Amino acid sequence: MANKQFMTVDGIPVEINGEKNLLELIRKVGVKMPTFCYHSELSIYGACRMCMVENQWGGLEAACSTPPKAGMEIRTNTERLRKYRKMILELLLANHCRDCTTCDNNGTCKLQDLAMRFDINDVRFPNTAEKPKIEDSSVSIVRDAHKCILCGDCVRMCNEVQNVGAIDFAHRGSKMTISTAFDIPLAESPCVGCGQCAQACPTGAIVVKNDIAKVWKALDDRGTKVTVQIAPAVRVALGRELGIAPGENAMGRIVAALRRMGFDEIYDTSTSADLTVLEESNELAKRLGEGKAELPLFSSCCPAWVRYCETRYPELMEHVSTCKSPMQMFAAVIRENNRTSSRKCVHVAVMPCTAKKFEAVRDEFKVEGKQDVDYVLTTQELVRMIKESGIMFRDIEPEAVDMPFGTMTGAGVIFGVTGGVTEAVLRRLASDKSNTALMSIAYTGVRGMEGVKEARVMVGEKEVRIGVVSGLKNASDLIERIKAGEHFDFVEVMACPGGCVSGGGQPFASNMEREKRGAGLYSADKLCSIKRSEENPLMMSLYNGILKGRVHELLHVHYHGAKQEDN
Ligand code: SF4
Ligand code: SF4
Ligand code: SF4
Ligand code: FES
Repeated sequence: MANKQFMTVDGIPVEINGEKNLLELIRKVGVKMPTFCYHSELSIYGACRMCMVENQWGGLEAACSTPPKAGMEIRTNTERLRKYRKMILELLLANHCRDCTTCDNNGTCKLQDLAMRFDINDVRFPNTAEKPKIEDSSVSIVRDAHKCILCGDCVRMCNEVQNVGAIDFAHRGSKMTISTAFDIPLAESPCVGCGQCAQACPTGAIVVKNDIAKVWKALDDRGTKVTVQIAPAVRVALGRELGIAPGENAMGRIVAALRRMGFDEIYDTSTSADLTVLEESNELAKRLGEGKAELPLFSSCCPAWVRYCETRYPELMEHVSTCKSPMQMFAAVIRENNRTSSRKCVHVAVMPCTAKKFEAVRDEFKVEGKQDVDYVLTTQELVRMIKESGIMFRDIEPEAVDMPFGTMTGAGVIFGVTGGVTEAVLRRLASDKSNTALMSIAYTGVRGMEGVKEARVMVGEKEVRIGVVSGLKNASDLIERIKAGEHFDFVEVMACPGGCVSGGGQPFASNMEREKRGAGLYSADKLCSIKRSEENPLMMSLYNGILKGRVHELLHVHYHGAKQEDN
C-alpha cells in the first residue's frame, strides 16, 4: 500500500499502474474520452485537442500526451470542456462536407459520432467546404481531401506501422493537406494497398474502393454464372452492425446470405488454402533438402507484402514463394472447372483485404487478358450488400458451401490470423502425425497477435528457424537482421498487424475485438474434423483431375512487377 500511487479522476481516486497517459487511466473509471488523433499503436501527435481535461488549477491538458502523476486531480466533463469540444467540432464541420448520407463512412465516422455525442445540431460558422476532391487512382482505396481533418493518423500508420511512407503532410497553414510525394497519383506511389490508413482514418477521407455496383450488375444478368469464394478471416469479422459478436463464426449465415443475393456457386477459400499449404510446404522441403541459397523462403499469400518486397527489396523476390495466394489458386481452379460452361462466368472473391483488389488486376493473374478474379469485395462491402438486400442476417439458417469444392480443413481456416500459414505448413511437414504432435505445434510460439514471433522446430532431422511477422515495419526490421547475417529458413509475412483478421477491408475493430477474431478462427479449426491439408480428400481428386500436369501453370506465379493501377 505504501508504494501505491493515486490520482483523482472526476472525484474518484484511481491507482496509477503503469498507464502511459491519462486516457488509459480515465478509462479505468469507465469514461471514454473523445479523440481524433490518438491511436494506441501510433506515436502521440497531440493535434486535435479533443481529449483535453481540466486539472485542479484550472489548466487544460491533453489526456493523450500527459502521463499520470501522483496527486493530480482532473475533471473530464466540465462546462468549459464541453464548450471547447463543441467549438472544435463546429470548426471542423465548418469546412467539412456534411453530406453524411452519401458518404461511404456514414455510420462508422468518428466525426459524425462525436458531433452526435456532443449534440451539435447547428454549426455557427458558414460552410466553406469545397467540392469533393477525389483521388481514386488506386484500386484499393479512395481519398477525398475535403473530408480530411488533418489528424495525421494515416500518415503515422503508413510510416510507423507499415514503413511505406506513401503519404505525408504537405504545405502549411490553411493549405495543409495529406499527399503523396509531389502529389503523384497513389497508384504510382509506393503504396501497397494495405488499407491500414483507411482503418485508421476517423472520417470518410480514406475509404475502401467500392465495387458493389459491378457485382450487383453481374448478379442481375441471368445469363451469367456468378461464383464466389469467401476468405477465412471474413467469417469472424462481420461486426456489430449485423448483430454479430466479434469472433463469432458466421460462415454458414454468409453462405445463406450470398445464396439469397443470387450467387450460383459459393465456396470457402479455406479449401484452396489447403492447396497453398501443400505447394508451399513442398517448396520449403525442397529448398531445405537442396540446401539452396534462397532461404529463407518467404510466404506469398499477402499481396501487400509481395508488393512491398517488389518495390523495397527486389533482390529478395527469389526468396518469395512462387505459390499463388489461396484466392488466386481457387480462381484458377474454378476457371478450369467452368471451361465447358455455356454461360458467361464471373468470379467474385469476398476478402478482408483491400490489397486483394490490386492482386486481382495484376497481369500475372490474367489469362488471355481476362482476370481470374473479376471482382474483390471486402468484408465491409459484403456487410453493405447484406443490409441493402434486407436479409435478416441473425435470423437466417446457416447453410453449407457448394460441391464439388466443398471440403476444407482446419489448416486452411487458420490462414486468416498471423502465424496460421506457418502452423498449417508445419502440420504438413511434421513426420509425427499424432494428435499430441499436432497440438504441440500450436505451442511452438507461432500463435498470438504479437507483430514478431520466432520459433525453432524440428522438420525431420533438421532444426528449422522460423519467423512470423505482421505489419510491414516488423517485416522490414526482420529483413535487415537477415541481411546482417541471421539465418531463418521460413518467414511468414502478413502486412496487416495481426494478419488478415485486421485487414484493411474489415469492419473497424478494437485490438481486443481483433484478438477475438483470431480466437474465433482457432475455434473454427477445433471444430473441423480434418486438421491437416494433405488429409483433405478433395486434394487427391484435384491433383488427379484439373491439376494433372498443370500444377505449375495453375498454382504458381512469377511476379514481374506491376503498377498499382486500375484497368
Ligand atoms: S494503403 Fe497502406 S501503403 Fe497505401 S497509403 Fe494506406 S497505409 Fe500507406
Ligand atoms: S485522411 Fe483521415 S486519417 Fe489522414 S489526416 Fe485526414 S482525417 Fe486523418
Ligand atoms: S495481411 Fe491479409 S488483409 Fe492484410 S494486406 Fe495481407 S492479405 Fe490483405
Ligand atoms: S486525441 Fe489527444 S490531442 Fe488528439
